[in-house]
Amino acid sequence: MVVRHFLTLPDLSRNELLALLKRASELKIMQRKHIPHEYLPNRVLGMVFEKSSTRTRVSFEAAMTHLGGSAIFLSPSDTQLGRGEPIEDTARVLSRMVDCIMVRTFAHAKIERMAQYSSVPVINALTDEHHPCQLLADLQTYYEHRGDISGKTVTWVGDGNNMCNSFIHAAALLDFELVVACPEGYEPMQSLLDKHKTNVRIVRNPAEAVKNAAMVATDVWASMGQEAEQQKRKEAFAGYEVTTHLMEQAADNALFLHCLPAHRGEEVSAELMEDPNSVVWDEAENRLHAQKALLEFLLCA
Ligand code: CP
Ligand code: NVA
Repeated sequence: MVVRHFLTLPDLSRNELLALLKRASELKIMQRKHIPHEYLPNRVLGMVFEKSSTRTRVSFEAAMTHLGGSAIFLSPSDTQLGRGEPIEDTARVLSRMVDCIMVRTFAHAKIERMAQYSSVPVINALTDEHHPCQLLADLQTYYEHRGDISGKTVTWVGDGNNMCNSFIHAAALLDFELVVACPEGYEPMQSLLDKHKTNVRIVRNPAEAVKNAAMVATDVWASMGQEAEQQKRKEAFAGYEVTTHLMEQAADNALFLHCLPAHRGEEVSAELMEDPNSVVWDEAENRLHAQKALLEFLLCA
């Protein structure tokens, strides 16, 4: 049997993605109504975290509990990974003990190697290059508030980082237009821009970039692993803060999303975080429901 991994969003077809988003909303309703949904009894998820996390860790762990299984948190400081045991060996050992492996790490190549040596599904819980689990929650949030996203304009304001790369994948899969407003030198991956020219364009000026946008999203200017560049980036991104004023230039009632954690007064204003069109708390909650749907898809297929 071929093992399905979820390393980037296009590991799902368009139809699989749409079905998964629908299922995520169903699972959300089941949870709200206290309807048991223990579809993964006794299944175990191994969670390898080489970077910090609040949402991802708690949502995966809670998801496995609600689904009738369990999760094991593994950090480099208290596993042999931190002492240099090769990723290939770790993958082969873990996959003989657990049913699924979730990994948050630095280089994307590392998770690809993990998947190559794993006999159980590997889920990307963030790498330097991609954050596909967050996109599941973001897309679910858009569908729940506004319906179909195809044909709409979405604007990404800020760093062309892992989140932005995953947004490009989403634009290509669901056929919406992604406008990226970033300063020079902070563009998303060139290979993705080249491959998805019809869905993505770069517009340097944020006010111009958000025109007609049904949704505006942003993220921190310095991602995990870029702490030393914090000051330099703060200067480079001056003028890229998403505020209620900037949102007024977008389409009426445009949604604001942020994967969190947020830095108020940098990439987003404190006022916008609390705006009625800011759906950041629903977005965070949907990590739980979207990942339940993902786990069910990967483990019950
Ligand atoms: N958005 C997100 O992935 O948050 P955490 O870093 O808290 O997991
Ligand atoms: N781009 C951010 C996302 C955090 C969820 C980072 O990689 O740190």
